[in-house]
Amino acid sequence: MVQVLPQIASTQETLEELVNQIGRYEAIVSAWDDSQQAVVMGLKGAIEALHKEALTRLIRTVKQESITALRQAAEDEVVYGLLRYHELIKPPLSQRLQQALAEVRPSLHSHNGDVELVAVRLPDTVEVRFTGTCSHCPASTLTLSDGVEQAIKRHCPEILYVVAVSTEVATPSASSPEDPAWRLVTSVAEIPEAGVLDIKLEGKRLLLSRSGAQVSCFHDACTHLGRSIAAGAVSNGLLTCPEHGFQYRLTDGACLTAPEMPLQRYPVRVENGRVFVQL
Ligand code: FES
Repeated sequence: MVQVLPQIASTQETLEELVNQIGRYEAIVSAWDDSQQAVVMGLKGAIEALHKEALTRLIRTVKQESITALRQAAEDEVVYGLLRYHELIKPPLSQRLQQALAEVRPSLHSHNGDVELVAVRLPDTVEVRFTGTCSHCPASTLTLSDGVEQAIKRHCPEILYVVAVSTEVATPSASSPEDPAWRLVTSVAEIPEAGVLDIKLEGKRLLLSRSGAQVSCFHDACTHLGRSIAAGAVSNGLLTCPEHGFQYRLTDGACLTAPEMPLQRYPVRVENGRVFVQL
């Protein structure tokens, strides 16, 4: 006996109700036998294919008129989710870069080495740093071109140049303010213990956090859609993006929502209560 659910939610009803509605239908269908489920899945697939084709044509037309309008539309979380579901837009660049590095890590680990993303220089360049054995391995250049670079270019075709930067992290001299590699950004006292301090420096949005004496500095850009996270709520050392709720650990920038998408981190040095950041 087929259970009939109430009418599909009207446009006035909330998205949450729509999602619940779908969940209830799925629960019913999951109790059906295989042949009935196959019919439902076939119907679902056909409807989705039709929607995908319509969306593809819509995107093509809007793109011709205004790429900006298309980008703005994709910033809506529902639109973004739908386009991602139909694989009509790629995941964010940061996510694809992390996927590429995750792909090559097992082979680097087998040589007691690793690779980390240092910087993304839009529009077409990324910098990586080899660590561990790979950092002083004469074959690391070969490793880069053969493994890391290929993986990055495969996942991120918009990236044309992959540059291996030095494994040495520059440290400021006693006269740090004069060292052009480091910028004096603030004092430790200015950074709230259970909060964040946002600063704009040379056109970059920075976010500083502090846990006792340990200071961390991140690019103030959510790895989901690049929005500022400075106004996000901080609780138990976690910062929540005010836009769609991605959560980040403030000690190291790890993303709890999507572990492959940590915040971009900058080296920090504290001297006599003054905080220097290497951009
Ligand atoms: S921009 Fe979407 S979670 Fe931050």
